[in-house]
Amino acid sequence: STHADYTSILISEPAPGVSQITVNRPKALNALNSTLFHELNSALRTFSTDDNVRCVVLTGSEKAFAAGADIKEMKDKQFAEVYKGDFLAHWTELSQFRKPIVAAVSGYALGGGCELAMMCDIILASPTAVFGQPEINLGVIPGAGGTQRLTHAIGKSRAMELVLTGGNFSAQQASEWGLVSRVVEQGSVVDEAVKVAGKIAGKGMLAVQAGKEGVNAAYEMSLANGLHFERRLFHQLFATNDQKGGMNAFANKQKAQWTHS
Ligand code: CAA
Repeated sequence: STHADYTSILISEPAPGVSQITVNRPKALNALNSTLFHELNSALRTFSTDDNVRCVVLTGSEKAFAAGADIKEMKDKQFAEVYKGDFLAHWTELSQFRKPIVAAVSGYALGGGCELAMMCDIILASPTAVFGQPEINLGVIPGAGGTQRLTHAIGKSRAMELVLTGGNFSAQQASEWGLVSRVVEQGSVVDEAVKVAGKIAGKGMLAVQAGKEGVNAAYEMSLANGLHFERRLFHQLFATNDQKGGMNAFANKQKAQWTHS
């Protein structure tokens, strides 16, 4: 399907090299259903092969980034169905996307909404942002990374308390704990995210992708393996035109012109 056919997300290009996805199910506080994820994955697939897309901003509304998985869609599902169909597996496609994604979070980021934000690379929060993994209140647990990514981000004791009590936490707490990179002024979170994304889109894309791979490796690898992986990525960048262009421009006191090659 093309962007124009989407019913649950909006696509825009707020700055050169930056594409924005806005989750748009206002009547359900942006609850995440299968149509929405189908569209999100489809949009990301087109972005991944488009050199004009160098960074992505993902956002919702002022009131809700996303209030979680769509409970009404999920409530009557049976074990055999969710197990055989590997329910929620397709949600994690976003975490395999190789260009950076900046999440601009305002309002509720609960359950799957919090998990969706955590699959992104950078999270900026409005002071109104409310995070949480309330699944325990529905008789289940987080199913799209909440027990894992939250624990990595904020530590075991805090993650355990949040997952087992279902309590919410504020933008301020999210910032103090390192889940979000910063809290911005009320009403400016999308603009700030576009600014960050614009800066990233102004760099050479090969180095940006390698940087993302390197930081993400820190979540998966031992320190020694991660350092080795990083050095090899660094070496590979000496095969790019952007490394030659970037370093020569510095030596000649010029501004680098990236060719993304
Ligand atoms: N699924 C489906 N519909 C939802 C929804 C969700 N997660 N969250 C909100 N909605 C719907 C409401 O049912 C309501 O619809 P109607 O007008 O048709 O009744 C509409 O959005 C507005 O919501 P409220 O009237 O509840 O708004 P509120 O301002 O009073 O409360 C809220 C806001 C505290 C976020 C509340 O909506 C809420 O608790 N939502 C559910 C949060 C939640 O439990 N999320 C986790 C889902 S499970 C999950 O995500 C699993 C996973 O790990 C992947």
